[in-house]
Amino acid sequence: MDIVTKRPRGTEDKLPREIYKWQTVEKVARDTAEAYGCKEIRTPTFEHTELFQRGVGDTTDVVQKEMYTFEDKKGRSITLKPEGTAGVVRAAIENGLLNDALPLKTYYFTRCFRYEAPQSGRLREFNQFGVEVFGAAEPSSDAEVIALANSVIERLGVKNVLLKINSIGCPACRAEYHKALKEYYGQYKDKLCDTCLERLERNPMRLLDCKSEICSEFKKDAPMILDYLCDDCKTHFESVKKRLDALEIKYEVDPLIVRGLDYYTNTVFEFVSDEIGSQAAVCAGGRYNGLVEEIGGSPLAGLGFAMGLERMIMVMDSQKAEYAPEKKCDLYIATFDEETNIYAMTLAQKLRAEGFWAEYDTVGRSFKAQMKYANKINAAFCMVIGSDELAGGFAKLKRMSDGEEISVKLDDGFAERLNTLIMDISL
Ligand code: HAM
Repeated sequence: MDIVTKRPRGTEDKLPREIYKWQTVEKVARDTAEAYGCKEIRTPTFEHTELFQRGVGDTTDVVQKEMYTFEDKKGRSITLKPEGTAGVVRAAIENGLLNDALPLKTYYFTRCFRYEAPQSGRLREFNQFGVEVFGAAEPSSDAEVIALANSVIERLGVKNVLLKINSIGCPACRAEYHKALKEYYGQYKDKLCDTCLERLERNPMRLLDCKSEICSEFKKDAPMILDYLCDDCKTHFESVKKRLDALEIKYEVDPLIVRGLDYYTNTVFEFVSDEIGSQAAVCAGGRYNGLVEEIGGSPLAGLGFAMGLERMIMVMDSQKAEYAPEKKCDLYIATFDEETNIYAMTLAQKLRAEGFWAEYDTVGRSFKAQMKYANKINAAFCMVIGSDELAGGFAKLKRMSDGEEISVKLDDGFAERLNTLIMDISL
């Protein structure tokens, strides 16, 4: 096939016939975020590469291997955002949002770009719904953000999603933990894969995330972060769990959740499902108390999550979850000639202004073909306008579900009558 008619590997077309699924998920996510007091933020699709190097972390797979980075015409290094958090933090600092009343609660929908090996549920361009909250250091915020993610999942009717939580501590307790990890993994230096050898030096916690058979073997006896938490971090984590219990949100503490991005501190979490592959995350996030400062703002606590929308829809499809029904055409106006078609055009124009979905012929179909088309698009009502109807000011509305015909006056009250008839059908 000609390359021009083929989309790049790892990308997807979201087609009109399935867009109702996206609209359902986006509406539920938006309504839920707003019920928690979040306001939408939209940031650029590309940022300076340095933002992600500094924010997401130089030693992460995302920054080292997966970014779409290029030079613009002035030789600046630009990167298509691989995730949403860094851009939101940058925008909050640059626009002074962190000087206003705190906490600042934001949500976003964004496309992300990562050069990964494409497979089911893993794309090179994908969509995230995310939430970022700033100036909220208390465990109550961790619980609130997790509860928000959980209620989006619940409101979408998605089942069998397991919430896994962990605490990866603050830089002080993590330094102790890194020491212990280096010592432990140091014994197996000659057996570790090349990536893990590098991790051992630069980012030892990521060793726990290695999927290779040999390195995974060493995981079970490795020191666990929860044994190294300082008193403050321990108390924080206990309080988050207590609040999740009070909200009756089920979770499992998994000390192997370390996350692939460098900015996290304290609470981290993942909502995983078996429906995409083994325990793939449909939503993930955590606290990042050092990130605002790292990116150039004054020190300020932050936390959030992002939900992979392609993955969420895959899970919903495989569980046959319900989406909001697709919109239906309210009225198709069939006509015979130019005069009646012009009348239909003006009537459709008025009805559309009132919020109806009205259609008439714009492609020169025969009368018979128009009726067939009205059926095909599943119009609720069909109305025939001929010269008699034009002269008499009356027409017959045919209810397509049962063929019942209702005579209606073509006057200023038409839209209201049509509305009543449509409401009757939906009852
Ligand atoms: P992340 O774990 O890298 O975190 O991604 C969040 C979610 O995006 C994943 O759980 C998954 O559902 C989806 N996702 C990631 N990569 C892909 C891919 N290649 N194809 C399809 N879906 C994917 C973040 O991005 C953080 N910014 C989340 C966050 C916000 N933490 C705090 N605030």
